[in-house]
Amino acid sequence: MEIFVSPDAAAAGAVAAGILAAVIRRKPDAVLGVATGGSPLPVYRALAGHEMDMSGVRAFALDEYVGLPAGHPQSYAAVVAHEITERLGLDPAKVAVPDGAAADPEQAAREYDAAIGAAGGIDVQILGIGHNGHLAFNEPGSDLDSRTRVEVLAARTRQANARYFSSPDDVPERCITQGLGTIMEARQLLLVVAGADKAAVLHEALNGPVTSQCPASVLQLHPHVTVVADAAAASLLS
Ligand code: F6R
Repeated sequence: MEIFVSPDAAAAGAVAAGILAAVIRRKPDAVLGVATGGSPLPVYRALAGHEMDMSGVRAFALDEYVGLPAGHPQSYAAVVAHEITERLGLDPAKVAVPDGAAADPEQAAREYDAAIGAAGGIDVQILGIGHNGHLAFNEPGSDLDSRTRVEVLAARTRQANARYFSSPDDVPERCITQGLGTIMEARQLLLVVAGADKAAVLHEALNGPVTSQCPASVLQLHPHVTVVADAAAASLLS
């Protein structure tokens, strides 16, 4: 595992963007796994600054809420379109997000998992970490070999994401998330973490026991993990 520590979130974003740019330069049709949430935003901003032709890149989002109306500004489909597809100049036809509005979300989840496989798997999966150790929306208790599926969001996660909604009650209760087993099949994992509020969970994930109670601890079992953290998030790492 490689760990890069940068002074602040913007600098960490630049480091992670440099890693992604190198992959895309080597493989212009690379398959990226893309996270939403706040942590990777500086990465996408810095990557856009590389002004590369990314029209060949394919992308799969990590997760999506279940039950938001299509086009809802906080749906991850909308966030991915705005923050990633448009910002980076990706071809929208090559960007996939789980279908949280599907009549049968479990079936949509299985199809999404299969689509990742059909694309040849993910070259680099960008990840954030939740305060409760979740990876994507694999909440504590998720099987380490779980596949893409419908998951119930933990109260802590809904609380953390309430900042994006007008009321905490508006945060959906369910989501479709790539499973931990799905994520572990990506060839490289790029975890981006910023802020003192993530220091304890980052330490636990990287140095604690590998357990489904801290889903991000599964990272310890992957052969190619790169962690990019700001100094505040890395403060408890030895
Ligand atoms: C987002 C995702 C989540 C976030 C995590 C951290 O697609 O899968 O696991 O990465 O909740 O969120 P932020 O970065 O907002 O602290």
